[in-house]
Amino acid sequence: MGEVAAEAGGHVVHGTLHCSDRQCWLEFPVIDGAPVIVMNPQDYVRDTLHHLNSRADIPLLLESIFGDVVPSADPYNAARHHLSLYAGDHYGDWSGMAEGSQVAETMREGCAMLGGVAGPALDLGGSVGRGAFALAGVVEGPVLGADMSFPMIRLAQTLLREGRVEWSRRKLGTVYERMTATLPEDTPVDRVDFWILDAMALPFPAGRFGLVAAINLVDCIPGPTNMLSEVARMLAPGGGGFLTTPYDWSEQATEREHWLGGHSQRSQWGGESGPVLRATLDRFGLEIVAERDGHPWKLTVHDRSTMHYSLEMIAFRRHGG
Ligand SMILES: C[S@@+](CC[C@H](N)C(=O)[O-])C[C@H]1O[C@@H](n2cnc3c(N)ncnc32)[C@H](O)[C@@H]1O
Repeated sequence: MGEVAAEAGGHVVHGTLHCSDRQCWLEFPVIDGAPVIVMNPQDYVRDTLHHLNSRADIPLLLESIFGDVVPSADPYNAARHHLSLYAGDHYGDWSGMAEGSQVAETMREGCAMLGGVAGPALDLGGSVGRGAFALAGVVEGPVLGADMSFPMIRLAQTLLREGRVEWSRRKLGTVYERMTATLPEDTPVDRVDFWILDAMALPFPAGRFGLVAAINLVDCIPGPTNMLSEVARMLAPGGGGFLTTPYDWSEQATEREHWLGGHSQRSQWGGESGPVLRATLDRFGLEIVAERDGHPWKLTVHDRSTMHYSLEMIAFRRHGG
């Protein structure tokens, strides 16, 4: 820990961490409870200052004015649309909008596919956090939700710290309504945390985790191969992990040369992604223990639009257990 600028109920809300190597002493900000522990925190601050500096207490009345006057692609509207997509999916049940949570169900299913699971656990690309809360109900020990998005980690941190959080759900166009999720009383809040981490460059020594989940991350990250190499590095020998993916490759997220398949249909595997993913897991010493294809995942874009995905789900263990 460097300095603590604001604290609430035992949580550091604003402050700094710094590298424990005195020769380095690099500073990492903690903002709204979210520690930013990435390879280059200066670049992260420069690139996301509009989010880091944004207020979380704007009432819907003013939010709707701001949303109406900036373009849809502006980070302001893009962030509230992404929060609408993922918070609606993660916390539909905790806000009285849905009966269950797909993410929580996927986490339980992944753990069941692995058989025995042990912590500490890491939910990579965990977005607004439900995966980490779900894993805490299955494994013993600490559970960390990690994502690069400040708005998403801030939402998860607020729910963790305050027991409730509001977000705006998209009805259509730039028309939104406010939703509130409430954390169930039996949530083991002292074992869960949410950090801003890059899944391609994780700040932990090798072998520290018993379980790593990467739900719908492979096709949403600039370096899927680097991420899988980090998953293997994080797992203790014999540790387990699982991932799901719709292989929905896009150049906004991943340059084409880094896609796992999805191109070059003249090649050995005819452009299929599954064989490339399996070969990559094998290359990093991750042995597949169970697979399931056709796992459903739906995301509500707005009141009249829902995206339906069919996911490949793969559970694996690191060699050497
Ligand atoms: C398709 S969403 C999936 C979210 C969540 N796992 C789920 O299934 O609901 C992909 C997530 O990966 C995050 N992400 C993208 N690049 C990342 C990176 N380099 N490190 C960590 N998370 C990243 C995004 O911010 C986003 O929350």
